Amino acid sequence: MTRKFGSGLALGVVATVLVAIVVWLTVAYTGIYNVAASDQHFDAVRWTLDTTMHRSVASRADTAALPESFSDDLVAAGARHYAETCAHCHGTPGGEPEEWSRGMRPEPPHLTEAASEWRPEEIHWIISNGIKMTGMPAFGQNHTPEEIVALTAFVSKLPGLTPDDYARLSGQARTPQTGPDLDREPAGGTAIPPIQ
Ligand code: HEC
Repeated sequence: MTRKFGSGLALGVVATVLVAIVVWLTVAYTGIYNVAASDQHFDAVRWTLDTTMHRSVASRADTAALPESFSDDLVAAGARHYAETCAHCHGTPGGEPEEWSRGMRPEPPHLTEAASEWRPEEIHWIISNGIKMTGMPAFGQNHTPEEIVALTAFVSKLPGLTPDDYARLSGQARTPQTGPDLDREPAGGTAIPPIQ
């Protein structure tokens, strides 16, 4: 490598780093990026977040000690937890997520389909640790290790389940009411007054 080529290369690298810093600070300070959840991500941003999430989970997930196979009792215990804790965001076989969760960006995927993309170890990792900048909570600190394994067992089986399987496993009615009905007028009739 000649000396001229070497100093040209160094100059190119410094200029590229400076441009990257200017773009980064411009995006952060000018408010140019719309953070509204009612607005879709740009395709490039969505791709970056999605690919980062998949690669990050795949490279960290192999530490989970899971049973060789999941017993029916474990899957049923997971189904009951799922009905209480996850169904309002992720739906159930034959049941849609709550309307308000469609306003999240990214939208929580219907796990009856999306769970087939993930290995049980990855599902276990996601439930324990959550996913930054998506609204997927980390359940590892407020659930016991046994509960996390039961949830993992259930979510791993979810893609093959029919609405009847789900109703039997979770003990929920066939069309589950997955959360409190926020539109209902409270008992005693104290409806929220209209804004003046
Ligand atoms: C407040 C809503 C919310 C709740 C409650 C919630 N999640 Fe999530 N979950 C999300 C969001 C948002 C994502 C990320 C979606 C994305 O980026 O693709 C996600 C992602 C996931 C994924 C990865 C799926 C994929 O392909 O993105 C799994 C598995 C998962 N959640 C399992 C669960 C389980 C099990 C529970 C209950 C213990 C749960 N979640 C509770 C919102 C929620």
